[in-house]
Amino acid sequence: MAGSSNIVWHQTTITKADRQAKSAHKSAVVWFTGLSGAGKSTLANRVEQALFQLGIRTYLLDGDNIRSGLNSDLGFFERSDRTENIRRIGEVAKLFVDSNAIVLTAFISPFQSDRDLARSRVLPGEFFEVYVKCPLEVCESRDPKGLYKKARAGKMKDFTGIDSPYEPPESPELVLDTSVETLDTCTEKVVDLLRAQGIIPKQTERTSAYSTGGTD
Ligand code: ADX
Repeated sequence: MAGSSNIVWHQTTITKADRQAKSAHKSAVVWFTGLSGAGKSTLANRVEQALFQLGIRTYLLDGDNIRSGLNSDLGFFERSDRTENIRRIGEVAKLFVDSNAIVLTAFISPFQSDRDLARSRVLPGEFFEVYVKCPLEVCESRDPKGLYKKARAGKMKDFTGIDSPYEPPESPELVLDTSVETLDTCTEKVVDLLRAQGIIPKQTERTSAYSTGGTD
């Protein structure tokens, strides 16, 4: 791998601890993983909206958006491209954590080892792997982008869940089944988890009305 042993990390004058001392909340990565169409983007958008309403500083990194910019040089066919996609997101997420934001990521991120690498870039307790679980048949019936149809018709290769593997999380912090639970319930569970783990203050009020977010 490229890189240099002559690089020395420069410790910035203002640290994460300084930023946290001025803030009512801590920072974390909320890593949504699951099949295409499982609801990662929709859920991540709703959670961001809920946190925003509570005055929490957030940022959302979404697969399709990042792949049209930062990672536009990466494809899906090579395992190494998928790994590099997630490695870069892990690094970007770490920077957001350093800035004291709660960063939400919505990527299929099909491989456990890639997700583990992203986890390893932040401190223990700062990474929340949220498995957006949804049966393949349900994702396929939703098919919001028409990609399952294309994959089944052989017009698209290496589509996750069809002819490319997805490894379910081994020990996620949270499992949400979007084929059974409502979007509001899923959103509340994520916000409650962050509250229970002391990332956001306990006294922040529960928000019940989350308006619509994106799609996935
Ligand atoms: S990941 O597997 O590398 O984590 P990522 O989340 O960035 O994937 O991008 C997934 C999105 O890219 C899907 O929601 C879909 O819109 C699009 N996409 C295009 N080709 C594929 C493919 N072969 N497999 C999965 N998703 C694909």
